Amino acid sequence: MAENTFLAGDAHWWRQAVVYQIYPRSFKDSNADGMGDIPGITSKMDYLAQLGIDAIWLSPFYPSALADGGYDVDDYRNVDPRLGTLADFDVMVGAAHGANIRVFVDIVPNHSSNRHVWFRDAVAAAPGSPERARYIFREGKGAHGELAPSDWPSHFGPTAWTRIIEANGEPGQWYLHLFAPEQPDFNWDNPEVIQDFETTLRFWADRGVDGFRIDVAHALKKDMTEPLPSVTSFAMENIPLDGSHPLFDRDDVHEIYRGWRTVFNEYDPPRVAVAEAWVPAERRPKYAGADELGQAFNFDLLGTPWSAKKFHQTIEFNIDLAAKSHSSSTWVLSNHDVIRHATRYGLPKKVNSDNWLMSDGKTPEIDLEQGLSRARAATMLIMALPGSTYIYQGEELGLFEVADIQDADLQDPMWLRGGKTKKGRDGCRVPLPWAKAGSSFGFGDGPSHLPQPFWFPAYSVEFEESQSGSTLKMYREMIALRAQLQGAETLEWVKSRKKVVHFTRPGGWHSITNFGKKSIELPAGTVVISSGPLVEGKLPAHTTAWITE
Ligand code: NOJ
Repeated sequence: MAENTFLAGDAHWWRQAVVYQIYPRSFKDSNADGMGDIPGITSKMDYLAQLGIDAIWLSPFYPSALADGGYDVDDYRNVDPRLGTLADFDVMVGAAHGANIRVFVDIVPNHSSNRHVWFRDAVAAAPGSPERARYIFREGKGAHGELAPSDWPSHFGPTAWTRIIEANGEPGQWYLHLFAPEQPDFNWDNPEVIQDFETTLRFWADRGVDGFRIDVAHALKKDMTEPLPSVTSFAMENIPLDGSHPLFDRDDVHEIYRGWRTVFNEYDPPRVAVAEAWVPAERRPKYAGADELGQAFNFDLLGTPWSAKKFHQTIEFNIDLAAKSHSSSTWVLSNHDVIRHATRYGLPKKVNSDNWLMSDGKTPEIDLEQGLSRARAATMLIMALPGSTYIYQGEELGLFEVADIQDADLQDPMWLRGGKTKKGRDGCRVPLPWAKAGSSFGFGDGPSHLPQPFWFPAYSVEFEESQSGSTLKMYREMIALRAQLQGAETLEWVKSRKKVVHFTRPGGWHSITNFGKKSIELPAGTVVISSGPLVEGKLPAHTTAWITE
């Protein structure tokens, strides 16, 4: 079992950490089956150490039918045999700690998979049984129970209810699933569910895991009082500030996280967690409180347009917000659920990001050069902010979204279940190019579970290592500099011209980003890094520079 004594005593390591998200199936394949795996991660620990990150977060690697990329978990305390074994996991944690890298795992508490032993038991048992009470089962409406108990939609499709066939072979009760039918929602009013998740948290913490990313943290508690309200009486995606939404961000969800905090504090240092909670910003600090999860994702930059004013506002707002719970903010530009930011910043404004078409049905022109320079500048900007920064595998290579995966190859339930109208998230989940050539560009010695594009060689680790000014080299240098320059969690804004974001951090560290089209003069000092070349000593459009006094 992996020890992590090197961390003992440092309870605040996470506050300004750089966390690298690994999507395990697509990171590195060690056994040529086309699927990335845990030994693959271990084999790349030197690469991760060289990148200079403080922690890795692994998206789910648990046994799963992959109905939702692993967010449909069959067994919370095991490793998918296609991805390795628990022993492989322990070796990986040992290697990470040996390289001074902490490990986060993903906890998926809102729903299990329909192959989880509890769900199989629930289907086999009778209505009203303790087995059914671990999930949310209801009788259907209509003369024969043939209508869903309510009109609630799921995130992936038209209905959040699926009817089961009872042991007698007849159609029977319905169960709730806010995501795919393969993802039945747990009943968090059941103490058995509460206990089981605490066991899971201890299971991984005992194996040396340092932190947890909590999936859909705001959805666990539901008001299932009959009669169930029609979706026409509340807005599915619009959560009020008073905790009255029947499905999301209910006040009693916080009891669960106060219980988890007790578990985290059994360890030295206390285990940490970050909530994925899509709630109104004002409601985020509760999840991030020191008596709960400790940190909550701030996804606001994902929707912030390329504008100095908007970036400034988003940053200021989130620093203040995190301070309300004595937490630090998280900065995120890409993850496994969104279009990679190098592409996002190159898309025309009017593109429909669901189907990648313009309003007139035409295919958009994507300005990749602009996209990448803005992406590099935005990343360098967030790396200079107080708080922790989450980066997503492949962004250090400047990877673009793979926008042209053939329909037949798409795997995402957003595509498969959404009437095949939304392209979904496969384009940011394509296996990484490690080498310029080879059957899957060094991802493995075999195929790749999603097709890789023709342009990958020029974005491979091998190629970028040979190129000065490559995005990979910039990330390495930037993260190393950040570690040197990082001090207290404060920031001072420097009044600047329009279209520029300029601030300083303690010790005379300036970050200045030019959002405009014209080059600008830089303040006095030494330019220690820039996201693109300076032009005649000036900072060109879509570029960030760090300057020390
Ligand atoms: C959020 C995860 O990031 C996403 O990938 C997943 O589909 C949903 N939660 C459901 O678990």
